[in-house]
Amino acid sequence: MKKLVVFSGAGMSAESGINTFRDSDGLWENYRIEDVATPEAWAKNPKLVQQFYNQRRKQIIEAKPNSAHLAIAELEKDFQVRVITQNIDDLHERAGSQNVLHLHGNIRLAKSSQKLSKLSLNQEESYYPIEGWELDLERDLCPQGYPLRPHVVWFGEAVPAYEQAIHMANDADIFIVIGTSLAVYPVAALVHEIPTHCRAFYIDPKADHQQIPSQYERITMTASEGMQYIQDVLQNDND
Ligand SMILES: NC(=O)c1ccc[n+]([C@@H]2O[C@H](COP(=O)([O-])OP(=O)(O)OC[C@H]3O[C@@H](n4cnc5c(N)ncnc54)[C@H](O)[C@@H]3O)[C@@H](O)[C@H]2O)c1
Repeated sequence: MKKLVVFSGAGMSAESGINTFRDSDGLWENYRIEDVATPEAWAKNPKLVQQFYNQRRKQIIEAKPNSAHLAIAELEKDFQVRVITQNIDDLHERAGSQNVLHLHGNIRLAKSSQKLSKLSLNQEESYYPIEGWELDLERDLCPQGYPLRPHVVWFGEAVPAYEQAIHMANDADIFIVIGTSLAVYPVAALVHEIPTHCRAFYIDPKADHQQIPSQYERITMTASEGMQYIQDVLQNDND
């Protein structure tokens, strides 16, 4: 089976009702990113950060996968599919995708807010599934007594899953980039990691205006329209 890799960004979930932030002047649901998605924001006002992600989690739990998420899950019938996502929502998994790598974390999980540098060298980070939508600063603590924080990679933090994503891209026969402005580094550089034989597509309503290597076919459509188009292209290739 051919190896097909999907690389998705916030635009993937826009048709599920979850806003991107670059489409609304750098605001994410009316918050400035510096106030809610950085380690400094947590240090300054953990209550605000916790509330922000509680609201995002609630919204994500109430949202449903859209037809593009479902189309990607369906590709598993014909391809060995891997999804690399910048999204913190779990809509790919809920659509049925079996193999999803979250570069920026998963909002349905929590981790300790204890600084990583304070963990001993061979101690791995632990993740805790969150019951429902709410994490509470006083009530929800890790075994060492630190408040749990969302398992989300904030701006300025390392992206530990990126190495694994590079290996997946290096190995792809088909690579589909969906709904990302390719503005968040280091992950945006992933589009340069595909082999020369790889068939590559870039679906985004603003695809015409964004930087991407010429190996990519630009598909200036929404995620659901673009996935419909790709299903037809891949079907024709198989016939
Ligand atoms: N759903 C989520 O989990 C979510 C939502 C917002 C932000 N974030 C976090 O913020 C980071 C960057 O966010 P961002 O908003 O700048 O994402 P981004 O950089 O991935 O940009 C969003 C892109 O989506 C495109 N888009 C808008 N509507 C679309 C549609 N219907 N179909 C396809 N594409 C569409 C826009 O043209 C834009 O290029 C993410 O990597 C993530 O960590 C996550």
